[in-house]
Amino acid sequence: MKLLFTNIKNLLQIRDASVEKLSGTEMKELPCISNSWLLTDNGIIADFGKMDSIPKIKPDKIIDLTGKIVLPAWCDSHTHLVYAGNREQEFADRINGLTYEEIANRGGGILNSAKTLQETSEEDLYAQSALRLKEIMRLGTGAIEIKSGYGLNKEGELKMLRVIKKLKENYEIQIKATFLGAHALPKEFKNNTKAYLDLVIDEILPIVAKENLAEYIDIFCEKGYFSVEDTNRLLSAAEKYGLRPKIHVNQFNAIGGVQAGVAHNALSVDHLEVMRPEDIESLKNTETMPVAVPGCSLFLSIPYTPGRQILDAGLPLALATDFNPGSSPSGNMNLVVSLACIKMNLSPEEAINAATINGAYAMGLGKTHGSITIGKAANFIVTKPIPSYAVLPYAFGSNSIEAVYIDGKLVE
Ligand code: NIG
Ligand code: FE
Repeated sequence: MKLLFTNIKNLLQIRDASVEKLSGTEMKELPCISNSWLLTDNGIIADFGKMDSIPKIKPDKIIDLTGKIVLPAWCDSHTHLVYAGNREQEFADRINGLTYEEIANRGGGILNSAKTLQETSEEDLYAQSALRLKEIMRLGTGAIEIKSGYGLNKEGELKMLRVIKKLKENYEIQIKATFLGAHALPKEFKNNTKAYLDLVIDEILPIVAKENLAEYIDIFCEKGYFSVEDTNRLLSAAEKYGLRPKIHVNQFNAIGGVQAGVAHNALSVDHLEVMRPEDIESLKNTETMPVAVPGCSLFLSIPYTPGRQILDAGLPLALATDFNPGSSPSGNMNLVVSLACIKMNLSPEEAINAATINGAYAMGLGKTHGSITIGKAANFIVTKPIPSYAVLPYAFGSNSIEAVYIDGKLVE
């Protein structure tokens, strides 16, 4: 099936296949072709160019995009999209004065979601998660990472990962799975982190690896959750099974999680709301992508990741939603791109680069997603007629998207 898109006002994020990720000042550039065409063939980007060089072929369909902008679909490299129920009561409790920490300390937070998930059937969990997946596809996301971490026992964690596997099988969108068994300490293991990590490492991880249920390993490296020592132990164990780290670090406290991630050649270190100069320094000359999740900062009223400083230090940066019921109940990458501009002082070009090509890198999809490149997946957003791409982050809260294509298919 060949689709020819014509009269595209601007075709954004044209990249050579050799570009894996962008860092520092490279992020300021967003290469584009105005008045252009794009050809897709069986879900792959086959070719593109300027309208005056349109190929003389007979495609199956011609789609006229006069006045509209085309850019790669968003690549959301950090989500907890598979969860059961919601936590709107805790949201109200926070408005009434309780902190996220206080709520967690009285058994709410992640443990609250774990309890609900354990009581939810696999079928129901799948149905709830599929609804969210369809929503974010319509919002322009074309590739996504999804974590476990609300099971917190063998059955629950495997249930989550099986649901992710089923979503992978049933939807066009590219999905990467991450095992986050070490998300919080279950009540039964209070004051015995070692015993819980024994369970995660000796009992759950081997099954996850054997059944190919995850590509990546994650841990919440944070005061009151898991220490740097715990992190090193888990990441070393996961390395033996070929699971590369993508870890939660520096959300509330800087305790050395970034350095632990870098030491284990993490694909990404995520959150980074609290960054010391040495944390930024430790990311230089590494293959580790820093990932910011500004939706979480907005929702919890915590600091924003110092994205401007990270880029000014010459580092790359990716943006993700952190879609989850407790700290960021939104999977809307458009909002994330706006927040990066408004609250983190990124330019529209930097934010779009962070949400596309760098997001793809942060989940190991740099070769197939994140840019308009011949041979990559035909995943792209078609905007409504808008004056320029800066309107995407500028008109926050508006929906500037007219259509989304994933693997060359229109998302209905
Ligand atoms: O990425 N920080 C750890 N985990 C999630 C929040 C989990 C929750 O509150 O349910 C996050 O913010
Ligand atoms: Fe998260």
